[in-house]
Amino acid sequence: MATETKSKNPMEVVKRVGNRMHDSQAMNSIFRPGSVFRKGYTDSPRNRSYVIMNNVLYHLHPVKVKIHAVKVSYTLCLGGLSFFLFMVLTVTGVFLMFFYRPTAEQAWADIQTLETAVYFGSFVRNMHRWAAHLMVLSVFLHMARVFYHGAYKAPREFNWVIGIILLTLTLLLSFTGYLLPWDQLALWAVTVGTNMMGYSPVLRTNVQFVLLGGNVISGDTLLRWYVLHVFLLPFVIVIFMAIHFWRVRKDGGISGPL
Ligand code: HEM
Repeated sequence: MATETKSKNPMEVVKRVGNRMHDSQAMNSIFRPGSVFRKGYTDSPRNRSYVIMNNVLYHLHPVKVKIHAVKVSYTLCLGGLSFFLFMVLTVTGVFLMFFYRPTAEQAWADIQTLETAVYFGSFVRNMHRWAAHLMVLSVFLHMARVFYHGAYKAPREFNWVIGIILLTLTLLLSFTGYLLPWDQLALWAVTVGTNMMGYSPVLRTNVQFVLLGGNVISGDTLLRWYVLHVFLLPFVIVIFMAIHFWRVRKDGGISGPL
């Protein structure tokens, strides 16, 4: 009986794994027919249109838009505004990172230096603060708008759930950022917040311990929240935003009359 011998050549192995992934059910359920990523794509006028329509750039800038969807009075552009504020926060946040060290000894002093001795330091810090407050507000209002239009119903229920995750992540980003100035306000706000989490069901003080990186608030808490604030949470929120925008297109664009 002839047995198939598989080549061990690294390029062949990569190609084989790639082909297996392309053929998998998960891949096929994600990418619609006509996508350039999909195996078995044939060159026909219909498929060529699909390639264009499914192109990622057209998810952001679609080929067809419903008339009511471009009316500012329908969405109030609140989702777009939330995204814009997130971009402002990213740019100003990167600027702040150049002047800030997340240690108990240096954090507060770095903020003072930023406020008094860095060109545009105070301005950029306030932009970051205001954009954070406004983002929480705009995400909340966006959710209210979506609810008002009943856009949480099928086929958009999955995107509503993604939205809830985005709201949670936005609040977590806001709360973790609050500790970073390491002033009295931040310290006590986080003490109160984490004390409340100590009363969570089942896990109780374990939650508090993980959040604080110890039994009481300390430099370890600061470092932990800094990593969450500048790395983990932004990374996760970007992934969920990408899924959110992709779903808006896949669910047939913005809700409302056809
Ligand atoms: C970081 C936060 C968020 C961003 C950047 C964002 C962004 C967007 C954008 C740009 C749209 C297109 C239409 C529009 O601008 O209204 C949209 C639609 C939508 N969003 Fe969000 N969103 C966020 C949070 C949420 C939340 C908290 C929910 C609900 C819990 C939600 C649920 C939805 C739904 C269901 C749609 C489709 C609406 C429709 O078809 O009318 N989003 N989002």
